[in-house]
Amino acid sequence: MEKLLLVLLSIFFFPQFILHTQASKDEYYSRPPARNVIFTPHHGSDSEAQQVHVSLVGRDHMRVTWITDDKQAPSIVEYGKQPGKYNAKATGDHTSYRYFFYSSGKIHHVKIGPLEPGTIYYYRCGGSGPELSLKTPPATFPLEFVVVGDLGQTEWTNATLAHVQSHYYDLFLLPGDLSYADTSQPLWDSFGRLVEPYASQRPWMVTEGNHEIETFPIIEPEGFKAYNARWRMPYEESNSSSNLYYSFNVVGTHVIMLGSYTDFEDDSDQYKWLEADLGSIDRKTTPWVFVLLHAPWYNTNSAHRGEGESMRKAMEELLYKARVDVVFAGHVHAYERFTRIYDNEADPCGPMYITIGDGGNREGLALTFDNPASPLSLYREPSFGHGRLRIMDEARAHWSWHRNNDSDSFSADEVWFNSLSTSTACWAIVDEKVPPLNDEL
Ligand SMILES: [Fe+2]
Repeated sequence: MEKLLLVLLSIFFFPQFILHTQASKDEYYSRPPARNVIFTPHHGSDSEAQQVHVSLVGRDHMRVTWITDDKQAPSIVEYGKQPGKYNAKATGDHTSYRYFFYSSGKIHHVKIGPLEPGTIYYYRCGGSGPELSLKTPPATFPLEFVVVGDLGQTEWTNATLAHVQSHYYDLFLLPGDLSYADTSQPLWDSFGRLVEPYASQRPWMVTEGNHEIETFPIIEPEGFKAYNARWRMPYEESNSSSNLYYSFNVVGTHVIMLGSYTDFEDDSDQYKWLEADLGSIDRKTTPWVFVLLHAPWYNTNSAHRGEGESMRKAMEELLYKARVDVVFAGHVHAYERFTRIYDNEADPCGPMYITIGDGGNREGLALTFDNPASPLSLYREPSFGHGRLRIMDEARAHWSWHRNNDSDSFSADEVWFNSLSTSTACWAIVDEKVPPLNDEL
């Protein structure tokens, strides 16, 4: 009885302590269950902008995307550096789509810029309505990314986003599975409204997961209809022919968004694009290279085991030769950090692999990991949360993982690491398996 009382008091007064200590004692800890889906309604007029989000386009532009129920609403953005004073204006284009009996609103895409770095801009969409603000990424390091996979739209999603917002960051990266609409198109609209307070303030750069596919036999054979219409990313600007894979530069960082659910074999467009994209990086001016994709290539959780394996076999050598620093994945609803790996072996010149699919989706957590752990897997835990990647300078970065149930400043897992661009040994070695891609560095 006394023991039971002690446990209850501990859980009540010291939940962080309990959660932290149970990372390696899963059998004693009951993980938080999935929470309900939140539907976020629109209360404004048909012409009022809703679901506003912004994304990077090229070096000094941003794309503002929003939706109106009014098909006559103009695709214009007015903006400036002072509240209420819009000395610049840009006009863009629009699209819409049908899915079964659902007809989307008017989806506006407007590119604004050139914009100054590290600057707050005030803007409004469609010539009226409420004023919003965004902050452009800085011109120099430090640079801070938030990384969240498998976000969904549940009460856990809200908890994750509130946690993210409680500390400064420059960009939001999402390695797939956004709305979990799963063919119910109004849930895409609801998701857009849920994330607007965050996605209208900082660039959200996303890639697709399996929940974005939404194919249906005969009627919707191609897939990604809603995702491509609503979440247009800068693929043309990175010489990609598909919104399903693209790259972008920010400060001295090159971020590559790959598509786990489109062709990736060595005769595919994606493979050829990736090869060219990696070959174009100058590590002297762009010392950091990160890759995001949905289905993890390395995974010791029982969920989705092996689903990234064919893509790994097709593309891992390209990433290794290019000395990619980190590969982030989602899909598995848990957190896991690996050491640097190449071809299933620890390799100091390979990328670190991190699974961060614990954003808050309605399906709940993936609770079961292999036991004992692979020596390649350094930390793993099924809890909802988000990651932060802070690039300090050309050589050093800090990664931290933050559980929703902990205080804002607490890192459940963290690691400092150096850019492979600084490793003379990694660029100089004549590896028996794979020769270095660029021997100038
Ligand atoms: Fe997924």
